Amino acid sequence: MKRIESEFCFALTNPGSEKSLKRELETMNLGWRPGYQRRGFVTFKADEVFSLDSLALDIATARRLCLSLGKAATREEAVNLIGGRYLIHHALYADRKMQGGESVRKPEIGEIVGTVVELGPAEFWAGLHRHGPSKSPDPAGDSGMIMPVESPSRAWLKLEEAVRFFDLKFTPADIVVELGCAPGGVVLALLHRGVPVIGVDPAKMAEVVMAWAIENRDDAPNGNPWFYHCRKPAALTSKRDLGQGVTWFMSDMNQSPEVVLKECARFCKMVPSIRGVLITLKLTDLMQIADKAQWFTALTAMGFRTIRLQQLAVHHKEFALLAMK
Ligand SMILES: C[S@@+](CC[C@H](N)C(=O)[O-])C[C@H]1O[C@@H](n2cnc3c(N)ncnc32)[C@H](O)[C@@H]1O
Repeated sequence: MKRIESEFCFALTNPGSEKSLKRELETMNLGWRPGYQRRGFVTFKADEVFSLDSLALDIATARRLCLSLGKAATREEAVNLIGGRYLIHHALYADRKMQGGESVRKPEIGEIVGTVVELGPAEFWAGLHRHGPSKSPDPAGDSGMIMPVESPSRAWLKLEEAVRFFDLKFTPADIVVELGCAPGGVVLALLHRGVPVIGVDPAKMAEVVMAWAIENRDDAPNGNPWFYHCRKPAALTSKRDLGQGVTWFMSDMNQSPEVVLKECARFCKMVPSIRGVLITLKLTDLMQIADKAQWFTALTAMGFRTIRLQQLAVHHKEFALLAMK
């Protein structure tokens, strides 16, 4: 089969993150030069042509990275640029958001997927990417998931979107510890997935979550998911509060990446059974993305091998940081 190449690629990002995307690429020293830009959309050029393989990169600020097939005046024309043989995803900039269209089916790993991006009434772009294990299966990396009314916070969406983006699997043997768990959107999502949670936060939890609460960590029942509220700051949490068997460390604390990663290292040392980490990193300035390598180094030093940083459609000044052993 003929190698598919292009002089240009384009990235879809959360509107307002374009500068951060360009900064991230600069720190990666790929030699890519930004070209045309609209809200949520940036094209790049390099000295060498892009291929589907050369775009198999993890770029935290890009929800989707495509080989560019060019610009078109209508959707039909853009679809024709892609041709009839690929699954086609639609993306649309509307209501100040880069939104994904409806998904017909999940792409297979290795499958080439076309993307048509609608930036305005007569501005469409066509692109291609290859689906991989660390790529969102959804158009424009946007699952379009709707939060249940009983969720006490939007954090429910952050957990569910990360699970879908990274294709995370939980087993009945998993126990999650979440720092910064109040009022409980993430905890509710995990409980509904059948995963027990130890939540650390001095703040009050919502009643819908407290319905699953146990008084003592030692009373955790076998079989059913449960919630244990460790009502104190993260720094005061000890091995005794956590008990045996914690397998996941999560954090949604509104603290700097440095503070969160320091706690993560302490928890991983206290609980060697932790196999996965999922952190919502909160940045005061999106340009802090330039510190990405430092965060990866810290996680590598904790023994993690697969590390991913990713902006999700539900994020603003946040990134999901995933690490697996
Ligand atoms: C964005 S909210 C978390 C939302 C929550 N994950 C949910 O699913 O609803 C941030 C939380 O971090 C907590 N927090 C901030 N610093 C903390 C610390 N040092 N230890 C524990 N919790 C902390 C705050 O009390 C606050 O409830």
